[in-house]
Amino acid sequence: MAGAEEKILTITVGLPGSGKTWWARQAGFDRAVCLDDWREKLWGDRSIQDGPGGTGLLIALHNMEIREALKNGENVVVHNTNILKKHRRPLVEMAREAGYQVKIVYFEVPLEVCRQRNRDRPDPVAEAVLDDFARRMELPDPEEADCVIRYSNIV
Ligand SMILES: Nc1ncnc2c1ncn2[C@@H]1O[C@H](COP(=O)(O)OP(=O)(O)OP(=O)(O)O)[C@@H](O)[C@H]1O
Ligand SMILES: [Mg+2]
Repeated sequence: MAGAEEKILTITVGLPGSGKTWWARQAGFDRAVCLDDWREKLWGDRSIQDGPGGTGLLIALHNMEIREALKNGENVVVHNTNILKKHRRPLVEMAREAGYQVKIVYFEVPLEVCRQRNRDRPDPVAEAVLDDFARRMELPDPEEADCVIRYSNIV
């Protein structure tokens, strides 16, 4: 568990295939939360967008996990695509309510690299979805969080 002076909620922003989950799992967080894990738990498949109970249930459980982890003082990462400000804002609010600092990590990975990684995955998203996300991406502003960094996840 993190010490009181270093309570940080980390929010990833990035296209499908940019490597958010890969990074979140090996970066040493106490807790890594994402909607896809809840899709799997609820509906048995990470790619199902809207199953029994609907997205309302999905988001409620996801948010409950985050609140619980923040209450416990854990060092948390939320590794969804979080491409829109309206996705990020409630996460920032939850963090503030719990007395956390907020760090946004923007995965600055070229669309072509995301496309190739997506093709190579066992569970690719549709190419059209990737293109649509790239079009709609709202880059994080510095004032959205205490710290906004760009991570060029290309090796
Ligand atoms: N730096 C890297 N070099 C090479 N491959 C990588 C790198 N980072 C991630 N990958 C690979 O790219 C694929 C997609 O990564 P990952 O699942 O982390 O993407 P994501 O951003 O979480 O996507 P989604 O938004 O769909 O959940 C995986 O197969 C992963 O192993
Ligand atoms: Mg992921």
